Amino acid sequence: MLVPTLTNLSFYSNPDAQRERYGALETAFRHRFHTGPAFVARAPGRVNLIGEHIDYCHFSVLPMAIEADVIAAVHAAPGESITIANTNPKFATAEIPVPRHESDILVDKVKPLWADYFKCGMLVARKYLVEKHLLQEGQALKAFNAVFDGSVPAGGGLSSSAAFCIAATLAVLKVNGEGAITKSDLTRITVVCEHYVGLSNGGMDQSASINGEDGKVMLILFKPALHAEPFQMPKLQPELSFLISNSLVTANKTETAPSNYNLRVVEVAVAADLVAREFALDCAQDSNIQTATLRGAFDAYCTQKLGLSPWDGADIAIGIERLQDMLKVVETLFSDAEKDGMLTEHTAQRLGLSGAEFSARYLSHFPVKYDRLNIYRRTKHVYGDSLRVLQTLELMRSFNGDAQGFLQGLGRLMDESQASTRDLNQASTAECDQLCTLGRQNGSYGSRVTGAGFGGCVVHLTTVDRLDALRSTLEELYYRKRWPAISDSELADAIVVSKPAMGACVLELE
Ligand code: GLA
Repeated sequence: MLVPTLTNLSFYSNPDAQRERYGALETAFRHRFHTGPAFVARAPGRVNLIGEHIDYCHFSVLPMAIEADVIAAVHAAPGESITIANTNPKFATAEIPVPRHESDILVDKVKPLWADYFKCGMLVARKYLVEKHLLQEGQALKAFNAVFDGSVPAGGGLSSSAAFCIAATLAVLKVNGEGAITKSDLTRITVVCEHYVGLSNGGMDQSASINGEDGKVMLILFKPALHAEPFQMPKLQPELSFLISNSLVTANKTETAPSNYNLRVVEVAVAADLVAREFALDCAQDSNIQTATLRGAFDAYCTQKLGLSPWDGADIAIGIERLQDMLKVVETLFSDAEKDGMLTEHTAQRLGLSGAEFSARYLSHFPVKYDRLNIYRRTKHVYGDSLRVLQTLELMRSFNGDAQGFLQGLGRLMDESQASTRDLNQASTAECDQLCTLGRQNGSYGSRVTGAGFGGCVVHLTTVDRLDALRSTLEELYYRKRWPAISDSELADAIVVSKPAMGACVLELE
């Protein structure tokens, strides 16, 4: 299926407001470049319903695209550089010389600026153009001008960076003659975008942003292959709704990666190798850092140790039963002391590695900082949250019209996921915990941190009749208490109600 090219804004829930926004973007473009844009590249943010920090372990997740998005007005230009401007004055205009070779694209991993994220999109687009023979090795990319506008809060855990990289990739592709890329190709090439700024992310955000469908949550599978499947949520009366509240603690994934995001990637790699060694399993070395994954180790444990038939992720009942058993196995793998964290030397010993071998295998890919590795906690979180994704699917599939039962069941799974994120994955914050508690006390059936965590947004499961009360309590008891001078427009930005929305597209507006 191709990334669609649309000619109007009727896919938004409020096209009039969007017409105003697109009009302002066009004016900004004309003002800056003295001509109108030729097209707009667009990619939305996402909210993840359940299954956190498990995508890079190759377990399925359940996100949805939201209406907040990044749009870029674009026009090819003469000359030898790409100029990118932003309607947000925080992001200074940048001029990037058109590259001839991949090595001409220099991305700053230490302190990446917004132009570095743009370069990530440029890198993957260039590789794709070469792969498709639309560009010769050594040939320069075409010059162009672009003005970006984003409504996804930066650092809010709603994938502003993935949306930005995807919009950048689409812009580069279209200017260079590729206006009809498939969703699966765009997903495949953009999943690794942020690896170039040093974040070892999984594929959830890009999959949701590109494949999102109106009214549907997306089941994203990573095994046997990356695949996005739209999933209709049950139709309830009153209608089900998601309220997203930003803790306003900026979650800077890339800058805090050594002790947060990337450290989790290392810990689960160690965990997978440890399970593999414990049961002498032969596992594919296909994690982001070329080790086993917890999914690979789980599959191999079931087939090689227990002699069960392979599980492709489709049969939910089988997955649930096996993951429940796996969680019991995890308890037997660690001593009480180990459950509380492991020192490097001891961890290396358990893996049968010297200190140097351990460093080369796990610590040489990107900087990481830690005192102790939390292998047990992460393993338990990953298998537990993967189980909850399957239990959510089961709940959706077996819906029999009992709205209260459904809401309470899903709410409980979301709450359990939050407890696991807080206690086992240690990726929540006091502010996010408070938002969850306040939400649950005031009309939410279940509340949890969404996305990478360490700040960012909380997603609350509720119904439309409860929205106003939930919103006003959060305003009063969280936002106005912490920031008495918060303005109405800041408040409006901090609380977003979104239905699942359509994925990335190109717009050629009439
Ligand atoms: C970030 C990453 C995703 C995923 C989430 C946590 O959003 O980009 O790949 O790992 O964190 O679930």
